Amino acid sequence: MRLINKTIQALTFATITALFMQLTHAAPKQIKLPPETAKLRKSKLPGYTLATQQCLICHSADYINFQAPNMNQQQWTDEVFKMQHSYGAQLSKADAKSIGAYLAVAYGSAKATDPSIIAASKSATVVKNPAADTTTAVQALLSNNACLSCHAIDKQLVGPAFQKIALKYKNDAQAQSKLATAIQKGSVGKWGEMPMPAMSNLSNTQSKALSAFVLKQ
Ligand code: HEC
Ligand code: HEC
Repeated sequence: MRLINKTIQALTFATITALFMQLTHAAPKQIKLPPETAKLRKSKLPGYTLATQQCLICHSADYINFQAPNMNQQQWTDEVFKMQHSYGAQLSKADAKSIGAYLAVAYGSAKATDPSIIAASKSATVVKNPAADTTTAVQALLSNNACLSCHAIDKQLVGPAFQKIALKYKNDAQAQSKLATAIQKGSVGKWGEMPMPAMSNLSNTQSKALSAFVLKQ
């Protein structure tokens, strides 16, 4: 279902729609998108601020709102670690724990007065470091250009896993500019039958930042 939602997001890009139609010869379907009204539940915990900054970069708050109720602090913290390890959310361990604590209180079974919640919330580094801005910019590019509808960090989706790409180009000194070109102009035949559409709206700087990110995985 989530995969379908992601695919629908991808299809909203006209060029990609056209591409899919060519590929599948599918008749256009009428798809009603839900209104993007979903917000995170408010809280005074520091994890709330962090979550609004870090958890809505790649997907809407619905992903969080539709989790099973009554998940405990450990389960929510593990969910945040999963975002970090499987999908590439860029968080410090302390911030991940603080977000887990907030989510367990706002959506799960924990209380703001639980000692373990207070402890996890204290460790958050709400101070922003300048390097985080570049990371955030790359994350925004990844989500605004539907990259993550077709790619994951560590597994094959429509396109190859970013880790596989990094491995293939590991010894190629030209890799960063080659991949930046592939991202901007599209790619076909290097990995399989499925082509990647051109992302010609991206500037050179943006596609370089994206290819550097991919090569770091
Ligand atoms: C770098 C991108 C990215 C960021 C940042 C991110 N997520 Fe996700 N998240 C994903 C992807 C990809 C999926 C899986 C989508 C799918 O299955 O179609 C997902 C799915 C989810 C789900 C659904 C359950 C599951 O495990 O699949 C929840 C809940 C969730 N994310 C919570 C969070 C929270 C909380 C944060 C903030 C700490 C966060 N996400 C940040 C990419 C991200
Ligand atoms: C509609 C699905 C789709 C989207 C959206 C998409 N990709 Fe791809 N991507 C693919 C496929 C499929 C391939 C393999 C193409 C091939 O075989 O040459 C690929 C290949 C790549 C490659 C390897 C190119 C090479 O020369 O080996 C990189 C890097 C890449 N994608 C990054 C991105 C980034 C970054 C974005 C977002 C700006 C993105 N992709 C968006 C499907 C997609």
